[in-house]
Formats: sequence, structure tokens, C-alpha cells
Amino acid sequence: MTGSYDLLWTLVVYGVLFIVSLIGVLFLVVTAYLAYMHRRYDHLPGPPRTSFYLGNLPAITAYRRRKEYASKLFLLWAEEYGPCFRFHVFHICMVSVNGSHLVKEILTKSKYTKSSLTYNRLNKICGLRFIGRGLLTESDHSKWYKRRVIINPAFHNRYLRLFMTQFNEVGDKWISSLSGLSESKDSFSMHDYLSRITLDAIAEVGFSYKMNAIESASNPFIVAILYVLQGISKAMHDPLLNFRPSEKSFRKNVRDSIKFLRTDFGHRMLLERRQQIKEGEEVPEDILSYIIKCKEVLPELTDEEVLDDILTLFIAGQETTSNVLSFLFLEVGRHPEIMLRLQEEVDQVLDGRQFISFEDLSKMEYVDQVFKETLRMYPPASGTSRYIKDEATIDGYRIPADSHVFCSFYVTQRLHRHYTDPEKFNPERFAKSEQRQLFTYMPFSLGHRSCVGQQFASIEAKLLICKFFQRYTYTLDPTQSFDIQETATLRPRGGTVMTLQQR
Ligand code: HEM
Repeated sequence: MTGSYDLLWTLVVYGVLFIVSLIGVLFLVVTAYLAYMHRRYDHLPGPPRTSFYLGNLPAITAYRRRKEYASKLFLLWAEEYGPCFRFHVFHICMVSVNGSHLVKEILTKSKYTKSSLTYNRLNKICGLRFIGRGLLTESDHSKWYKRRVIINPAFHNRYLRLFMTQFNEVGDKWISSLSGLSESKDSFSMHDYLSRITLDAIAEVGFSYKMNAIESASNPFIVAILYVLQGISKAMHDPLLNFRPSEKSFRKNVRDSIKFLRTDFGHRMLLERRQQIKEGEEVPEDILSYIIKCKEVLPELTDEEVLDDILTLFIAGQETTSNVLSFLFLEVGRHPEIMLRLQEEVDQVLDGRQFISFEDLSKMEYVDQVFKETLRMYPPASGTSRYIKDEATIDGYRIPADSHVFCSFYVTQRLHRHYTDPEKFNPERFAKSEQRQLFTYMPFSLGHRSCVGQQFASIEAKLLICKFFQRYTYTLDPTQSFDIQETATLRPRGGTVMTLQQR
């Protein structure tokens, strides 16, 4: 009995010793690996690491805790450390580029593919497939390219101009929904209205689907999108989100929202359209028809991948367009002289007409300038990232093989090196007579992975701006905050609260 007790005791002691040595070895391996990663990148300038193990994460977290957003910190670093700098988060080193030559090289060469480190996080949220490997997230160049080539024509101007009636109908619905607010003089969040009308726009123009989100703030699609966007944002900032017991009900809400968006909405829409085609019905030549065409041309695509594209195209354009318009209303609201010029231009070009044609929009030069300046200061999709497989020396900076490079549009577009008085909202920068440095303005990104929906967004946004300023004027709430909130995108923290008056 004593013999087996001794044996058990010896086993426990050896077991503990084994675990302690294993932890010790692991600790040494991690420490050695971190030291190696630091040495690999220490030839690049960058902020000092606040912690050996966490890298610059404590500085970024402390900044966020002060209700600041990380992009602002990256801008301070870019001003201080120049066109290319590095920062560390745990074992990962991010190389951040903002110089025009570096940005051009990295974004326009197809050998630099999208970084899976960033985009895989959108693949699944809280354990459920969200936009999977859709157009935005696919990092395999050849797989992505085949789909993009098929979908591209749906976004050409010559094709989109055929949808001006639908764009106008959506704009008119928005204007009518605001009329009650102008009569009541109550203050309201314009951001909320913009989120709903941009959803109606993509649904009606892109998918020939009547969402009628403008009619109800509790539209289930809006509620589901909000949950998923919060999920993305939390997942980006908290790698342990899937394991925290305190987040159990949040994770359930996100998963239910994804199920609703993919199955109840996306899949149902796909099946209905296929049925219509099968029955020989005439179907609209909209974005959905191009997504379906992808599957016909590329039979290897699964239905799950087709759903990835449906969700991507629905969501990528809605949030970005509503955010940029919200920022525009904020800036114009505090610059009465800009509001006046917008109204004058709209009145002059439209001459009281309600229907806005494609040609009318091309005449709205000042509207275009204000829209572009808003995108310069507040690019809603604030950056992109690429993977550098083989070592590259660009503009004198040696970037080691196997690196993840981050390009922040927010930073590049707000640098003193690129713009005079960059913190000033000044639409005159985009007047035709003004010269700008090349590759310092890219709110829709650059090169092959740039935004497929750029023309769609420009038509939609400018049409909504024109319709609004033709009819209304407004006053921002005196307590309105001008802070930026960084979630998956940049959006105004305070929601653009205003009171409305008919002109
Ligand atoms: C003002 C509005 C918009 C802005 C600022 C914007 C910005 C961007 C940016 C910066 C990217 C590159 C993202 C990255 O590299 O990670 C992108 C990609 C994309 N955008 Fe937009 N976007 C807008 C509106 C739209 C609209 C209206 C649609 C669709 C109807 C759309 C669909 C997409 C898609 C599918 C991609 C992925 C393209 C690819 O990689 O092939 N976007 N957008």
C-alpha cells in the first residue's frame, strides 16, 4: 500500500515537473520568437514597443479607452515616423505605409494579395459564416478575379444610368419621409434615416427588392445588420470574444442575425430569382442577375459562395454610403457658406425639376467637391491590407518576406506631407483648377481590388444630396459631437442630430 502511494506521489511530482518545464520551454520559445520578430523589423522606423510581449497593443488600447480611435494614433505615428513604419501586436508586426510611392506600388500590383490575417476575420463572426469568401474577402487572386470580371459590367456608368428612375424613386421616398420631421421641428438622428434609405437603394436598384426600410426603424434587416457590425467590431478588437461567458447572449444575437441575413433573406431571394428564371419569367438585369451569372459561368462555385457575394454586395455599400453622407451633413451643418453654395448649384442645375438625370449629376461640380472632401477626411472604409510573400524593397524601405502591410486611407489623406491644412474641411481642394499629389487620395482604394461600387455610391450619394438641398435646410443640434467612432467602418459617434426646415 505504501509502495503504490509512493509511486503515485512520484508520478505527481514528475507530472508537475514536466508541466512546469513544458511551460518554461514554451515561454522560452515564445520569447525567442518575439525577439526574432522584433529583430526582423527593427530596421524600419516605428514607435517604441510599450511591452516586450504585447508590443504596441497597450498604447493602442489606452488610446481607445480615451474614446479615441486607432486611426488617429496611426496618423500621429505616420507624421512622426514617415512614409513607412512598423508596429507590433503580440507576435504580429504590421508594416504601415502611407507614402504615395509605396501606396501605389503595393495597391496596384496583383502579386500583393489581400492579407488573410485581416480578411479571414470577416469570413465568420461568432463562429458562423458571414461573408465567407466573397468579393471583398477572397484573398486568392485567381479565384477572386474570375468573379470580379463577371460582376464588373453591373457597375459601369453606362449600365447604372439605366437605373436613374429607381434611384430617383428611392430619393423621393426619403424626402417624403423627412417632411413630417420638418413640420414637427423635433430633432432626430439623420444617420438613422440615412442607414435605412441606403439599404432601400441597394435593395431596389441592385436586387429589385422592395425593402421599405425607410418606413420602419425596427426593420429586421437593419436590426440584424447592426448586430453583425457590432460583432465584426468586437471580434476585431477582442480575440477572446468567442470564449467569454459574459458575451454568450451577444454571440447568440449575432448568430441569429447572420442566420436571418443568409438564410431567411439571401437564400430565399436567390431561390425566388432562380425559380422565376426557370419558369421563363422576364427578370431584371440587376446586380443579383450578375451574381447568378457567376454561378452559371463558374459551376464550381457553391451556393454558399454565391450567398457570400449577395451579402457582400448588400452590406459593403450600405454602411459606407450612409456613413459618408452622415459626415457630410455634419460638416456642411457647421459651414453655412458651403450649404448656401450647394443650394445655389442645385437650384441652378435643376431649375425646380424633381427628376434628376445622370447628366444633371455630372453638372453638379460643387456637390462633387463637397462629396470628395468628405471622403478625404472621413473615408468610411478606413484602410486595406496586403500580404508580401517575398522580400521587397520599395522606395528604399526593405519589407521582409511574409509581411502584412497595412495602408490607411485615413492616414494618407490627412497627412501634412500630402495636404495643406489637412484638418480643415475645404471642398476647394477638389476644384478642377487645383493640383493634388498623385496617390494621396484613395477613399475607394486603388488598383485591382478597388471598390466595385464606386460609381453606384457616387450616383446614389450625389442624388440624395441634391434632393435634400433642393428641399430642405437644417440646423445641427448644439450638443452634436463631431467625434469619429471606429467600428468596422468610420462613422459619426453622435449620429448627426439635427432639426429640419423646409426651404
Ligand atoms: C461611399 C461609399 C463607398 C466607399 C467609401 C467604399 C469603399 C471601398 C473600399 C475602400 C474598398 C476596398 C476595401 C478593402 O480593400 O478592404 C471597397 C471594396 C468593395 N466595395 Fe465599396 N465603397 C463604397 C460603396 C460601395 C457600394 C455602393 C458597393 C456595392 C453596391 C460596394 C461594394 C464593394 C465591394 C464588393 C468591394 C470589394 C471589391 C473587390 O475586392 O473586388 N462599395 N469599397
